[in-house]
Amino acid sequence: MEDRKSLPFTDAVLHEIQRLIDIVPMNIPHYALQDISFRGYTIPKDTIIIPLLHSVLREEKQWETPWSFNPQHFLDQKGNFKKNQAFLPFSAGKRACVGEFLARMELFLILTSLLQRFTFSCPGGPNSVDLSPEYSSFANLPRRYDVIATPRR
Ligand code: HEM
Repeated sequence: MEDRKSLPFTDAVLHEIQRLIDIVPMNIPHYALQDISFRGYTIPKDTIIIPLLHSVLREEKQWETPWSFNPQHFLDQKGNFKKNQAFLPFSAGKRACVGEFLARMELFLILTSLLQRFTFSCPGGPNSVDLSPEYSSFANLPRRYDVIATPRR
């Protein structure tokens, strides 16, 4: 994990994958514990609230190319890793994902271990892969496709 701070591009790619895949677009429903006044609107107690993570991860004012894969979203001009407040795949606030730290560690370790050992390609070339997700009840899942993993020497 110590190596992550020396690998800004890898870190940016991982963040961009999570942004683009938008895995839990509608988050988990919450509800108001009391009457709330928010930006001129009144949200009565017990109202079900669906905080759309999808809209934040595609917000045009936050992302240069919201609909396409672009690791530059997380890099500054010198190639250093750059945070973005709209990166919220784990949600925000008191009930945000408690597994965030573990998940981020696992994603980094698994992806870098695989890339160190294999070169990945696909039979029909990179453009044959459909990046649009398959929606299943509440999650955006990647579509199935064939991958060739060639051991690196
Ligand atoms: C890429 C991986 C993951 C993503 C994108 C993710 C995303 C989320 C999201 C969006 C929520 C809902 C937050 C909310 O209600 O506002 C959540 C909740 C939660 N996640 Fe994750 N999660 C991931 C991995 C994990 C892992 C590895 C664990 C456990 C080890 C975990 C445990 C939980 C728990 C316990 C909650 C409920 C928290 C609460 O209601 O207080 N998650 N997660």
